[in-house]
Amino acid sequence: MGRAFVYVILGGGVAAGYAALEFVRRGISHGELCIISEESVAPYERPALSKGFLLPEDPARLPSFHTCVGANEEMLTPKWYRENGIELVLGTKVKSADVTRKTLLTATGETISYKILIIATGARAIKLEEFEVRGSDAENVCYLRNLADASRLVDVMRSCTGGNAVVVGGGYIGMECTAALVKNQIKVTWVFPGKHCMGRLFTPKIALFYEDYYKSMGVNFIKGTVLTSFENDSGRKVTAVVLKDGRRLPADMVVVGIGIRANTGLFEGQLNMDKGGIKVNGRMQTSNSSVYAVGDVAAFPIKLFGNDVRRLEHVDSARKTARHAVAAIMAPRKTGDLDYLPFFYSRVFTLSWQFYGDNVGEVVHFGDLSSGRFGAYWVDQGRIMGAFLESGSRKEYEAIAKAVKLKATVEDMAKLEREGLEFAFQV
Ligand code: FDA
Ligand code: NAD
Repeated sequence: MGRAFVYVILGGGVAAGYAALEFVRRGISHGELCIISEESVAPYERPALSKGFLLPEDPARLPSFHTCVGANEEMLTPKWYRENGIELVLGTKVKSADVTRKTLLTATGETISYKILIIATGARAIKLEEFEVRGSDAENVCYLRNLADASRLVDVMRSCTGGNAVVVGGGYIGMECTAALVKNQIKVTWVFPGKHCMGRLFTPKIALFYEDYYKSMGVNFIKGTVLTSFENDSGRKVTAVVLKDGRRLPADMVVVGIGIRANTGLFEGQLNMDKGGIKVNGRMQTSNSSVYAVGDVAAFPIKLFGNDVRRLEHVDSARKTARHAVAAIMAPRKTGDLDYLPFFYSRVFTLSWQFYGDNVGEVVHFGDLSSGRFGAYWVDQGRIMGAFLESGSRKEYEAIAKAVKLKATVEDMAKLEREGLEFAFQV
C-alpha cells in the first residue's frame, strides 16, 4: 500500500501550517502536497494551549486557533486544506523514514513517498522518569505539549477548583500554567531547581519582578530543589509530592514542565545533527538535499550571531523557518540564507513581555520595576545583542528589535541605563 507526493511535510504543528500557506501562496497543484501528523486535528497555534485554552471563562477552542490566525494571516481550517487540494493524513504516526529511498512508513503500514520532504516534527516534553522519578503517568499529573494534553489539563483543573497544585519546573510552561491555575481558583506551589524562574532568559532582577507579582497573586515558591517521588492514593492519583530537601507537599494535581527534546529519532544516523536537532543550512536544507527541517527540530545558522548554529524553541522561529524552507524549495535562485532575528514572548495575568536577540554579555536594566515599566539590554563588545521589555507598545517593541537587529553601538553604559527606551528610539 502506498501513495506518492511531490512534497511531504512530516509533522502537523505550527511550522507545518505556515509551510502549507507558503506553498499555496507560491502556487502548487492539487494532490502535490501532503501533511502527515500524529495529532488528530489540523495544524493549530500551539501557544494558545497555555493561554486562551486554559481560561476559566470563554476559553479558546478549535477551530478558532488553527494556524495561521496567530500572525493575523488566513486561518487554515480543514476546509482550507480541502479547497487547496492538500492531503491531511491525521492521527497517523510515521514510524520509520528512509531518506535514500525517499519514503516514510506510517504506523498504519502505508508507505508514503516524496520528492521533497520537510521535517516539522517539533519536540516532546521531557518526562520525570528520565530523572528516576516514577509515577508521572498518574491521572492528575499533567504535561503540556499538545491538544490532548491541554484538554486533559482542563479536565483535571476543573476537578480541583479550590484545591492545591504543585507546578514543577521554572521555565515557560511553569510560568504560564501557574498563572492559568491561579485564574482557575487553584492554589499553586511552584517548585524549581534554579535560584529564580526562567533561568534560561531572565536576569535575577527581571525574575524578581515576576516572582513578586506571582506572590501577590498567592503563589508559593520553593526554589533550589527538585521532586524525588510521588505519594499516591489506592488508585491512580497522586496525593502529595516529596522534594529532595525532604519537604512533603499535599497536591490535588501536579503540572510538569521540565523542558523538551526535539523529535529527531527517525533521522538519527541518516542526517547530520547539531544542538539536539537536525542541522540545516541557511535555506533550511539538511545534509540530504531533498530534505528540509524547520521549527523546533531544526538547528540553523543565525547570521546575526556570526552564523552560530542554534535550535530555537519558539513559535516565531517555527513560522519563519517554515516559510523560508518553502521559498528555498519553490524559488531556489531567488532565496538566500535566512536572516533571522530571534524573538520570544510571553503573556501571564495582565503582564506581557517581548525579547529580541541573544542574552549574552553585560546586562543594563532600565525603567522602573516597581511600576512594571522596565526592560533590559544585553551588551557585548560595545554592541546591543539582546533587548527585553515588559508592557511595551508596538512602537517600543519595534524600536528595541531594531536596536538589536542593527547591533547598535553603545559608547557609555551609564548613559544607556539613563536613556533606557530612548536609546532604542535614537537608533
Ligand atoms: P510542533 O510541536 O508545533 O509540531 C510538531 C508536530 O509533529 C506535532 O503535530 C506532532 O504530533 C508531529 N509529529 C512529531 N513526530 C511525528 C511522527 N513521527 N509522525 C507524525 N507526526 C509527528 N512559543 C512562543 O514563542 N510563544 C509562546 O507563547 C509559546 N507558547 C507555547 C505554549 C505551549 C503549551 C507549548 C507546548 C509551546 C509554546 N511555544 C511558544 C513554543 C511553540 O509552540 C513551538 O516553538 C512551536 O510549536 C514549534 O513548532 P513545530 O511545528 O516545530 O513543532
Ligand atoms: P523550559 O526549558 O522553558 O524550562 C524547563 C525548566 O525545568 C527549567 O526551569 C529547569 O530548571 C527545570 N528543570 C529541568 N530539569 C528539572 C528537574 N529534573 N526537575 C525540576 N525542574 C527541572 O521548558 P518548559 O517550561 O518545559 O517549556 C517547554 C517548551 O515549550 C519550551 O520549548 C518552551 O520554549 C516552550 N514554551 C514556550 C512558551 C513561550 O515562548 N511563551 C510558553 C510555553 C512553552
